[in-house]
Amino acid sequence: MLRIATCRPLPEPDPDENLLLAALAARGVAARMVAWDDTNESWETGATLIRSTWDYVHHLDQFLRWIDRAARGLLWNPAAVLRDNVHKSYLLRLAAAGVAVTPTVLATRGSQQSLPDLAAAARWHDVVVKPAVGAGSFATHRLQDVSSADSRRLFDELLAQYDMLIQPYLESVEGHGERALVWIDGAFTHAVRKTPRFAADVEVVSEALPIAADERVVAEQALAAALAGAGGGAGVDTHDLLYARVDVARDARGRVVVMELELVEPSLFLLQSPLALERFVTAIAARLV
Ligand SMILES: Nc1ncnc2c1ncn2[C@@H]1O[C@H](COP(=O)(O)OP(=O)(O)O)[C@@H](O)[C@H]1O
Ligand SMILES: [Mg+2]
Repeated sequence: MLRIATCRPLPEPDPDENLLLAALAARGVAARMVAWDDTNESWETGATLIRSTWDYVHHLDQFLRWIDRAARGLLWNPAAVLRDNVHKSYLLRLAAAGVAVTPTVLATRGSQQSLPDLAAAARWHDVVVKPAVGAGSFATHRLQDVSSADSRRLFDELLAQYDMLIQPYLESVEGHGERALVWIDGAFTHAVRKTPRFAADVEVVSEALPIAADERVVAEQALAAALAGAGGGAGVDTHDLLYARVDVARDARGRVVVMELELVEPSLFLLQSPLALERFVTAIAARLV
């Protein structure tokens, strides 16, 4: 029996869930959904597939302990990859490894850094601020005037509670759009375009789109760097990774940059690609025998 880790209540519906359950059942794989923080479950035995554990960002320490527990059984993705990916400081590690990422400054929780100073040092005026541990656009804001009293107050309040990322606002999210490249068991399957989404907005995604050549190159570099650096440099084999999503945008000069590398609980937009669903179920079934 495969356990699929979710959360209760789900902050938003998961369109992948029923598709995956039905396709697994059709393949003869018995699976059931369990909230990751359900303490009645024997997580250390059997197999666990992480999917919609979207509330972990509010319970990070507990989630990391849960990963340790579930990793005593079979767990996808592998624990070393998960631990590296829950805090978006991984963007800085990817940048250090030579991957093109959205320019990012990290401000540590409780530090007294001011938004105008941080933005001035980076020469940014129109910025996005977001918690380093975040999902679903939680507390993510575009601040077009970094020195306004409202912007400063909002940032100060957030920095008192969270490690924060500051990035330039990438205008390309409005035109070409942010593209999510879905990767399953060794190959990219499809991309979708996501509309811009800040705190309180609803996510709208396109049908499956072809993957642009330059987007694929950057996404492959991001995945390779994340795998090579996992576990403090010990590395994780590509074959141990089951799923991934690389979200990319374009900077002011049109170059592809990584917005986010999702290795914990990405939506895989399976509705948009029956082939991706098929590939996912085949990969899961193969790992369970
Ligand atoms: N630097 C940025 N420029 C433009 N839009 C951004 C930027 N950072 C985030 N956004 C918008 O906010 C959304 C959420 O940010 P993201 O980094 O993907 O975090 P998460 O999806 O984990 O909440 C993005 O999908 C995008 O619409
Ligand atoms: Mg995102």
